[in-house]
Amino acid sequence: MSGIPANRDSFGSRFGVIAATAGSAIGLGNIWRFPYVAGENGGGAFLIIYLGFILLIGIPVMLSEFTIGRSAQRNVFGSFRKLAPGKPWYLIGLMGVGAAFMILAFYTAVAGWTLEYIFQSVINGFEGLSSNQLNDMFYSFIGTPWRPLLWFFVFMALTGAIIMSGVQKGIEKYTKILMPMLLVLLFILVVRSVTLPGAASGISFLFKPDFSKITPTTILEALGQAFFSLSIGMGTLITYGSYIQKNDNLGNTAVSVAFADTFIAILAGLAIFPAVFAFGIEPGSGEGLVYITLPNIFLQMPGGYIFSLMFFILLGVAALTSTISVLEVIVAFFSEELGLKRKAATWLATSSVSILGVMCVLSSSTMADVKIFGFTVFNLMNFTSANILLPLGGFFIVIFVAWFLGRDGAKEELSNQGKLKVRYIPFYMFVIKFLAPLAIAFIFLQGVGLINFS
Ligand code: TRP
Repeated sequence: MSGIPANRDSFGSRFGVIAATAGSAIGLGNIWRFPYVAGENGGGAFLIIYLGFILLIGIPVMLSEFTIGRSAQRNVFGSFRKLAPGKPWYLIGLMGVGAAFMILAFYTAVAGWTLEYIFQSVINGFEGLSSNQLNDMFYSFIGTPWRPLLWFFVFMALTGAIIMSGVQKGIEKYTKILMPMLLVLLFILVVRSVTLPGAASGISFLFKPDFSKITPTTILEALGQAFFSLSIGMGTLITYGSYIQKNDNLGNTAVSVAFADTFIAILAGLAIFPAVFAFGIEPGSGEGLVYITLPNIFLQMPGGYIFSLMFFILLGVAALTSTISVLEVIVAFFSEELGLKRKAATWLATSSVSILGVMCVLSSSTMADVKIFGFTVFNLMNFTSANILLPLGGFFIVIFVAWFLGRDGAKEELSNQGKLKVRYIPFYMFVIKFLAPLAIAFIFLQGVGLINFS
């Protein structure tokens, strides 16, 4: 345990905590995935269920991660080992580090695409292309090895550079600049989108509840989306929680972050769907919506050049404040458990993740035929982390707080050693003892196909 300095780095301000944590939560999950999933699953009806899950399960899991991290003051592995010495709970921590490797590998690959699209926006590379040509452009870009590889490494280097600078001088400093910038960019895009003639049908596509589209699968999609979007289930928020100061109010922080994450997801929907409908384009599938459909719209829109540039910068910024949070899980682990300096830990983490990352990038080109359990490496990382490791991690995290730390342990941390009133404790305990684990077990079993309700 030689790696833990007497003065562990921490966030310096309340705004810094919110910026960093909301920065982790707000990412490709909000801007790229949420609008499409919501649109396809009954719009407003999906939204109601999603909001219910954020409140009833997401916030309690988030609070449990903060509680573990802040009381242990360690990385995800070290936290479990410190709070439960000699017990096998540290395995949950190891699983979290493993999930971080997998998420970072494929997520950075997708994040790298945003850099190509920022570049194309700058050089006006979409100019004069038809819908089909834009489609070809996307698939030929991801289908050749060297360009996506280059952008992957650039994105990984940006992530590593911020992490190397530390928690306060790196993560906090940059998220405090990037998150307000993201909000401004998104507001401008929303105003542009909802004032287009014909925007109303896009707004109703997003908000009008269509309960006939609600199936058991929709409900599971909503829970999975809530997990991924809030960055819960693998210890990102245990790690960030360990940097939150002892006098901060964890309950308020969790509620603010969940609110910000949901707000941004809805704003992203409002930036995308009105424009999609105003130009009479079919709302396409996940990756196509952002990288194929939107350039189409920007081409037809007055001032499209600048809006296209803003949109892809927005997407890149959102992804960057998320990749740093995942890298920090691994770097905190390496530095505290292997006793490495932050710089060495960052080099070791970025280079080892890059081995897996390169395989994810090449999954659309030279390694497209390499299949493991029928998945390309990219899809295997994507599937296993989101559908298996996150729900499993979330399940054990709430069980750990509910049944191992217990009511007294949780109350001690959440009330800042008795200084805050925490009237929500009885409700919170009920949720993490019963409601959350049962609900999570349900998605997990459905996700791996052991039960099937759809
Ligand atoms: N929440 C981020 C998004 O919506 C992605 C992310 C960051 C994440 N850290 C995570 C997802 C930890 C799961 C676990 O894009």
